[in-house]
Amino acid sequence: MIKRLWGKPDKPSKQSAEPASTDNIPQHVAIIMDGNGRWAKNRGLPRVAGHHSGMKAVKRVTMAADRLGVKYLTLYAFSTENWKRPKAEVDYLMKLPQEFLEIELAELVQNNVQVRMMGYSQQLPSHTLQAVEEAVRQTAGNTGLVLNFALNYGSRMEMLEAVKQIADEVRNGQMSVEDIDENAMSSRLLTGGLPDPDLLIRTSGEIRLSNFMLWQLAYSEMWFTDVYWPEFTEEHFHEAIKEYQRRARRYGGL
Ligand code: IPE
Ligand code: IPE
Ligand code: MG
Repeated sequence: MIKRLWGKPDKPSKQSAEPASTDNIPQHVAIIMDGNGRWAKNRGLPRVAGHHSGMKAVKRVTMAADRLGVKYLTLYAFSTENWKRPKAEVDYLMKLPQEFLEIELAELVQNNVQVRMMGYSQQLPSHTLQAVEEAVRQTAGNTGLVLNFALNYGSRMEMLEAVKQIADEVRNGQMSVEDIDENAMSSRLLTGGLPDPDLLIRTSGEIRLSNFMLWQLAYSEMWFTDVYWPEFTEEHFHEAIKEYQRRARRYGGL
C-alpha cells in the first residue's frame, strides 16, 4: 500500500457539504474542463489567465480523485477543434503542459500517479510533446491513479482512424468482417485498454460533448455544473460523485 502524500485539502470551505462516501466510487471519471476564458473575462483578465488558473484546478481535482480512490481520471485539455482559436491563445495552451508538469511532476511521482496522454501527438509542438512524454516516462512504473490528458483529442477522428485500421486489417486478411464487434472497435480507439468513463463532468454551463469520447460515453452518467473550471473545487468534485452515487445505472435493463 503506497501512502498518499497529498495530505488534507487546502482550505475546506465553511459551508462545504458532507464528503462523498468511498463506497461506489466511479472507476473512471472524465472531465470537460470548460469556462477558463469566461472566468477570466468576468475578472477583466486576458483569457490566458483563465487557462493558467485552470491548472490549479487540475491539481486540486487530481488530488481529490486520488484520495477518493478513483482509478482513472481523463481530462479534456485541448480538442482537435481548438486549433481554430487565435494563435497566441493556442501557443499559450501548448506551453501549459510543460509548466504544469515542471511544477507538479515530482509530487505526481511521489503520489504514485501514472500520467498518460490520449490524442494526436504529430501536430503538437515538440516542446509540448517532450514535456508530456517525459512525464509519461517518469510515471510509467506507478500503479496509482491514471491521469490521462486528452490533448489534441477528437472523438470523430479517433473513430475514423479505428475504422480505417479495421478496414486495412480486413483487406490484408488479418481479420474477417465477422470479427468486427464492440471489442474490436474499443481496442483500436485511443483509450485502448481503459474502461469506459462511469461519470462525465462538464463545467461552465455548456450541455454538450464537443467531440469528446462519443463511443466511450455511451452509458456514462453525466453531471453538468455552471461553475467555471478555474473555480472548480474538491467540494464540487464530491458533489458530482454524490450525485453519481444516487443514480441507478440500468444499461437498458430493468
Ligand atoms: C476550456 O476553457 C479550456 C479549453 C478549451 C482549452 P475555454 O477556453 O473553452 O473557456 P470558455 O469556454 O471560452 O469560457
Ligand atoms: C471543449 O471545450 C474542449 C476542452 C475543454 C478542451 P470548448 O470550449 O472547445 O467547446 P465548445 O467550443 O464550447 O463546444
Ligand atoms: Mg469553452
